[in-house]
Parts: sequence; structure tokens; C-alpha cells
Amino acid sequence: MEKLLITGPTSLKGEVEISGAKNAAVAILPATLLIDGVCTIKNLPNISDVKISCEILEALGAKITWIDKNSITVDSRHITTTQAPLNLTSKFRASYYIIGAMLGRMGKVQVAMPGGCQLGARPIDQHVKGFEALGAEVSIEKGQINASAKKLTGNSVYMDIVSVGATINIMLSSVLAEGTTIIDNAAKEPHIVDVANFLNTMGADIRGAGTDIIKINGVEKLNGNATYCVVPDQIEAGTFMLAAVASKGDILIKNCITKHLESITAKIIEVGGNVEDYGDSIRVWNNERPKHATIKTLPYPGFPTDLQPQMGVVLSLADGTSIIDESIWDSRFQYTDELNKMGSKINAQGSRAFFEGVPQLEGAPVYSTDLRAGAALIIAGIVANGETQIYNLEHIDRGYENIEEKFRKLGANIKRVNE
Ligand code: EPU
Repeated sequence: MEKLLITGPTSLKGEVEISGAKNAAVAILPATLLIDGVCTIKNLPNISDVKISCEILEALGAKITWIDKNSITVDSRHITTTQAPLNLTSKFRASYYIIGAMLGRMGKVQVAMPGGCQLGARPIDQHVKGFEALGAEVSIEKGQINASAKKLTGNSVYMDIVSVGATINIMLSSVLAEGTTIIDNAAKEPHIVDVANFLNTMGADIRGAGTDIIKINGVEKLNGNATYCVVPDQIEAGTFMLAAVASKGDILIKNCITKHLESITAKIIEVGGNVEDYGDSIRVWNNERPKHATIKTLPYPGFPTDLQPQMGVVLSLADGTSIIDESIWDSRFQYTDELNKMGSKINAQGSRAFFEGVPQLEGAPVYSTDLRAGAALIIAGIVANGETQIYNLEHIDRGYENIEEKFRKLGANIKRVNE
């Protein structure tokens, strides 16, 4: 079993390069199934969720050629089956994008119910609502989703809940539909804009992505023959920003879009950190114990739930009592039990947690309960006294490229060992 060994405390200093966005990549890869041609994708993060996505595409008949560790070409001219491999699609959440893409391209698909981080109930009713509005029939039996449509026709879909996945999935299923689809109350995350940009580069006609009304005019065919570069990862950038604050460090975060980081920047300044914005890079430094704060996670442009655990480490060290309200996922406070093993004083009750700040954390053996919890525990290990051992690394490897190498370059004493 692999574990991370971290010896702290370290004040992180230096520069870090941000990889392509996981949550854009895991949607853009299925989107290639809509293309009757060959396309090139660059700046893919080299993470296990991307590798599994590629394996699923290959199992459906697409041909993937790796140009280097972050770039591929995908040839989706010959899709040979509509049965997605159940063992792979059940492994991670974003496999639900195979449904929208295959419905659009083949009018039919069978996939496993999506797996992924255990963050509480993760229903897909809004995805299904969208597919049905376009004319598809969807049934869920014995852990398998079957979707089919004789013909997909554009329609208006009002999202009852702001959902990243459902917004993207309805875009995927409607780009080749006849007529116009309008998604009302759409999610506005940067990766939604990125998926729309990708599809438009390949010949789609999507307007309004990044606002809460997206209009998709169906086109006959996507041709490919183009190269697309995945947007930088907003959450990875935010993770290093918060690591700079927690460790009283000074980090220049390169290759990011600082506009995507505004809610994080605002909260960092509120807790006493310093931020200098250079547009495509951002410097974050902090010399003082963080001040306490109140945070509520919200859909973009609000404070992202995917940075809530990392912010939790900052607040566990703050002067005074802080509160986090988690409004997206029921079980996103599992990491607080692990942080409490390291000396933090966090009391999580339902969707709210109280952080009574402590001056110092102490190293301990801890378990990564999900991807972002894992990132938070790494930050905690770096700022804690003594040795921290982090287990369940498969969660972390799903979403962060070379994470220990990136932290090591910033001065962290971190290594991966096989027990
Ligand atoms: N929801 C429904 N019905 C649906 C879909 C969603 O009730 O049909 C609810 C969810 O239960 C949740 C809320 O709506 O309470 C928002 O869920 P959303 O659909 O936006 O989440 P998602 O698409 O499944 C993506 C990211 C998550 C991130 C959330 C919120 C991907 C692959 N995953 O999930 O990322 O937390 O959006 O921003 O894009 C992560 O990267 O660690 C991660 C968990």
C-alpha cells in the first residue's frame, strides 16, 4: 500500500506550474465521441481520471494516440459499440458524460451508474430531465443506465438545481440534435465554458456558456481536424494559493486564469493573506496567523466546494472561531475527523462546521476520504509539527498531477513510499 510521508513544518516558497483542469478534461474527452473526425487535445492533466476516460473511449471504438504525457489525438470516426465498459464507467463520476455524448452521436448507450468520491447522495435526475426533454428514454436497472432516442430534438430545459454535470451533459446531447436547445439556470463554472469552446472549435454552435442561459443550435456534424488546449485547473491553483496561506509561505502560481480565482482571492485577503494578480499567474504570501472567517460554498462564481477542505486547514489554524457552510455536498466534512487527529478543533454538524482555531497542528497517520480531502491533508501535513502519514492515495491521484513533486519543489519534505 502506498502512503505519503510528510515531515513539517515547512513554509512553502517558490513557483508552481498549474496543469490542465480535471473537470474540463473529463468532459472534453467524452465530447470527442461527437466528432466524426480526428482532433488533438493538449494540456490534459496526467491523472488517473483522464487515463480511465481514455480507456472508455477506446473501448467504444475511438483510437487514441498519445503525443506526449499531456497531449493526445482522438479519432472517433468509427464507434463500434454503444455498451460502455461497466467496470470502468462505475469507477468515477464523470463517466455520466458518456451518456450525453453517445446519445448525441449514436442515439443509444448503456453505462454503469457513475462512481467517484463519496460526497453524499449524487443523483442524476437533472441529467435525465434534460435527456428526456430532447426526446430520449432513460431507464436505470441493476446499476446500469440505458438511454436511447430515435431522434433528438432541441427543447427548453429548466434546471431545478444548478448542476455542473447536468449542464454539460445537456450540451453534449444537444449539439447534434435538430433545432435549438435552451438550458435555463445553467451552471457557470469555467469548465462549462471550456467544454463549449471545445465543441465550438470542432463545429458546434453553442452560445452563452458562462451565463445562466445557454443556447445550443444543433448542427449536422462536428468535423474535428482542430487542436484544443484544456483550460488551467482553477481548483489546483486554489489549492496552492491556500497552501501558501496555511504555511505562511510565498508562492507564485503560474499558468492560471486569475479571473477564475476571484472568490478565493477575496477570502484569502479576508483572512490576512496577500495576493498579487498578474492575469495569468498569481502570487500569494502570508506572514501572520490567519484571521477567522465565515465561508459558504456556492456554485461559481461563489466559493467552490472543491476548495472547502483546503480552506478548512487555513481556518483550523486561524485566530478565533470560523464557520463553514457547505451547500453542495452532504458529506464533504469527512476530512474534519482526520484533521482533528492532527490537533485541530473542528465540530462538524450537518452542513455546517465550526473551526476553533489552534496555533499549531501535529503530524499523525490520516486517511484521505476523497480527492479534495486528500489535498487538504497534504497541506495540513506540511504545516504540522513532525511526521504525517497519508493513506488512500488513489483519491489524490485521480485529480492532481505530480502533486508531491510540485510540493517538493516548493520546499516540502514529502515522499511517496510503498508500505
Ligand atoms: N444534483 C442533483 N441532481 C442532479 C445533479 C446534481 O440533485 O441531477 C445536486 C448534487 O447532489 C449536488 C448539486 O446538485 O448537491 C451540484 O452537483 P453538480 O451536478 O454540480 O456536481 P457534479 O457535476 O456531479 C462537479 C464536479 C465536482 C464538484 C461539483 C460542484 C466533475 C466531474 N465533478 O460534480 O468535483 O464538486 O461539480 O462544483 O466536474 C472534485 O473535483 O473533487 C469534485 C467532486
